[in-house]
Amino acid sequence: MTHLEIREKFLKFFEERGHKIVPSSSFLPNDPSVLFTTAGMQQFKPYYTGEADPIKDFGSLNAVSIQKSMRTSDIDEVGDESHLTFFEMLGNFSFGNYWKKEAIQYGYDFIIKELGVPIDRIKISVFKGDEQVPADLESLEIWRSLGITDEKIIFGERGDNFWGPTGNRGPCGPTTEIYIDGLEVWNIVFNEYFCDSDYAKASSDEGRKHFLPLAKRGIDTGMGLERLTMILQKKSSVFETDLFVPIIEEIRGKNLYDLEKNTYAERIIADHLRAAIFLIADGVLPSNVTQGYVLRRLLRRAIRYVTLLKLPNDIYQRVAHVIAHDIYDMTYPELTEKQKEILEVIEKEKNKFEKTLVGARKGFKQRGKKPLSGKEAFDFYQSWGLPIEQIKELAIELEVPAEQDFEKNFENARKEHLAISAHGAEKKFGGHGLILDTGELKAGNEEELARVTRLHTATHLLHASLRKILGEEVHQAGSDITAERLRFDFTFPRKMTTEEIKKVEELVNETITQNLPVTMQEMPYEEAIKKGALAFFKLKYPPIVKVYTVGPNDAPFSRELCGGPHVTNTGVIGNFKIVKEESISAGTRRIRAIVE
Ligand code: GLY
Repeated sequence: MTHLEIREKFLKFFEERGHKIVPSSSFLPNDPSVLFTTAGMQQFKPYYTGEADPIKDFGSLNAVSIQKSMRTSDIDEVGDESHLTFFEMLGNFSFGNYWKKEAIQYGYDFIIKELGVPIDRIKISVFKGDEQVPADLESLEIWRSLGITDEKIIFGERGDNFWGPTGNRGPCGPTTEIYIDGLEVWNIVFNEYFCDSDYAKASSDEGRKHFLPLAKRGIDTGMGLERLTMILQKKSSVFETDLFVPIIEEIRGKNLYDLEKNTYAERIIADHLRAAIFLIADGVLPSNVTQGYVLRRLLRRAIRYVTLLKLPNDIYQRVAHVIAHDIYDMTYPELTEKQKEILEVIEKEKNKFEKTLVGARKGFKQRGKKPLSGKEAFDFYQSWGLPIEQIKELAIELEVPAEQDFEKNFENARKEHLAISAHGAEKKFGGHGLILDTGELKAGNEEELARVTRLHTATHLLHASLRKILGEEVHQAGSDITAERLRFDFTFPRKMTTEEIKKVEELVNETITQNLPVTMQEMPYEEAIKKGALAFFKLKYPPIVKVYTVGPNDAPFSRELCGGPHVTNTGVIGNFKIVKEESISAGTRRIRAIVE
């Protein structure tokens, strides 16, 4: 069974049982307390808490999805038979609808009847119970009634059989898991509580206050596609399934493929490049913070192993091609559409990394052989952007010992640095008593609100003008608006010429003087995209979105998905002026502009 057949079977199985197929959400969740989407349930959180209505949004109380996911906590496990950074999660969900009996029956029917896995290869775990949450005897009985004998059922503790909230707070509850051949394959979560971030610390009765009743108790399940494929294709590692063989063949050369099992280096390259490609396609660019930092680590580690294996330079292109074309063209066609951009990002990062290594080696030699402290390594990282693994590798190469607790001290220095930057941001807007804070726009009083609103519409005009003058490869990568100025980040591979900056400025001003109407309409996300509305690809949108149009409806100058607020006529914006154009990271430019 190919991975395509497995996907299809899963979606169809649940569709036939009253589930609405919902597309994967972006890798980059809307919730700022989590870096990546780590599970299928993340996009559905508001349906459990009662903040959103699934019937209104997609017409069903049950959903099924295949979610692009990323777990950086597994980065050090990659290379064994089953751990990956990027993976896809098959999941079925109920929001205040069916409960344990149906969820377990579905799990059983899909694995045993639909996929034909013999029952003697199956083991089950259920929650053992502790001071806050009782043992899940209901699930135990249901499994028994399906013919699973007691010696096949194990009782797991909080660490193994309890799903905690993603981000700071959220739905949570006990789980039951299906194991095949000893490998954990399917996690069925019974969300019945709403937990805050302190729930894990809680012991004793007092801890119960962290477990509030959930508005819509429901089902959330997760089954890794790669692991399931490995089992069904009877392979001894995920890297030997049809989700990876074409990549490994490209790294090793087809003729040699069967000679031996794949090696650690090949697995790292395959996993890290695959994850990096998906990240770049979702709009992440290498940088020294948040998601960009993770991408940089993945790419540089992959580049390092490519160098170690002395692979030819076109390896990135070939791997990107098989990933986009041979493996995912049916599932994620955007990988093929964005292949050129993806390769440009990789190439730039590679060049930057090579230069960095030369500089870092020199710096390292100069500092001599005294033991390297975590703090000093963090300073190196800050100045060179060299991830910790590479700092360690350089230290080994140049025979510099590391202090005790090197990694812990590096992490402490990093956290301290992040706390200081966060504090700076707080001070900037803190004592201000904001009347508007959308994340993108911030205003402290009515006058500032009027100014940021004008700058906000100017940002849409700028975005549209950049695409008209520089081409459609321009995509928004970030935006930040204060009462004084707008700041707009966008993807573009080189510096803009003076001529281009002038042209963009002129086009924006022309649009302003035309007194064009700005109108807002609410519509389903798909319709908005069909109408050509630009979406900021880093964000995940609700099913019904607001679309702002500048100019006539049938021939708009600009059309974007946006929460507002905006002016109602471009004429009130004032004279638009670009004050700075600069690079902020490989492939991303930043414009600062004002209105006078
Ligand atoms: N939310 C269930 C899982 O990801 O395992």
